Amino acid sequence: MKIFQHVQDIGDLRVALAEAQEVKRDRFQWQHLGKNKTALLIFFNNSLRTRLSTQKAAMNLGMNVIVLDVNQGAWKLETERGVVMDGDKSEHLLEAIPVMASYCDLIGVRSFARFESRQDDYEEKILNQFIRYSGRPVFFMESATVHPLQAFADLITIAEYSPLWSPAGGQTESTGNALHRGATGGHSIKVVMTWAPHPKALPQAVPNSFAEWMNAAANLSAHSPLFTPPQGGAGGGLSGGGLSGGGLSIDFVITHPEGYELDPQFVGDARVEYDQMKAFEGADFIYAKNWSCPGVTRPDDYGKVLHDYHTMMDWCVSARQMAVTNDAHFMHCLPVRRNMIVTDDVIEGPRSLVIPEAANREISAQVVLKRMLEAL
Ligand code: CP
Repeated sequence: MKIFQHVQDIGDLRVALAEAQEVKRDRFQWQHLGKNKTALLIFFNNSLRTRLSTQKAAMNLGMNVIVLDVNQGAWKLETERGVVMDGDKSEHLLEAIPVMASYCDLIGVRSFARFESRQDDYEEKILNQFIRYSGRPVFFMESATVHPLQAFADLITIAEYSPLWSPAGGQTESTGNALHRGATGGHSIKVVMTWAPHPKALPQAVPNSFAEWMNAAANLSAHSPLFTPPQGGAGGGLSGGGLSGGGLSIDFVITHPEGYELDPQFVGDARVEYDQMKAFEGADFIYAKNWSCPGVTRPDDYGKVLHDYHTMMDWCVSARQMAVTNDAHFMHCLPVRRNMIVTDDVIEGPRSLVIPEAANREISAQVVLKRMLEAL
């Protein structure tokens, strides 16, 4: 793997999920892969989970790790060509990238949407310069439009808490929900991603990637059991296991107020429902997230908060909405603003998965770094 940006970069999701379980079984078994190799993690924006989980994953693989907070101690970087650099920016990204690359073997970059230009953000102007000028494998640690390490961790979590999933064979005990019958005679789970209020304008990277990965999982599960690690799959440690019977399909629904329509390249075949209560009916997993206007139906409002959040508080996920679900699990990528996005009782409740979801960030990062080391 040379680039980790989109779901297709990970290849067969069933193999990737099996590999994630193999990492969990013994995360230190590939230390030889990272010996004398260095990962450089570059942050243009704040982070807790991504920073720590990716660093831990690299160390699990025996790597050395360098973390650079660009805005704390490095020279301020100019990113545009043709600019007369007479302001506060002392170094250009076009020199900084190859210099940084000379000190490492793999590069991870976090650079959020700037909301100055939708085109610049959606063309991934910053990350693409790292891909073009570093000569190193590059993995996205949340860019302007995607957060694939998060979405992969989310999928691992959904797999683990889905009915009948068992990476080592047999059935899970009590984490699953009552099963629905899917259209094809197998079982289906309903996953709902809901917009929720927030006082600030947040990027669309997390919902974009979650939608992209859920659509890929749903498409795959429509044809064959997704959560069944293939025989002889990654790591070779998993034989069979997963589902018994006709497989598990995914019904994926996105709900948000009008104006917050996500980019069609990520929405794909997902059902969009503007009535949040209706969307929640019978759901097995609720994935909450705020995002600012993606500029799809309202191009002039790209990156804006469309309404005073005080008027949108009925979208905050509470016991009222959870009551119409199929005893759904609650998910959020964190950090989360309590009683804006979700009430205290729901996030602290027995169906909340926010902590195992965050813990799976180490696992998703390790699968990605392992693949990149194997391809060096
Ligand atoms: N979910 C996530 O990416 O967390 P951080 O912003 O803390 O890295």
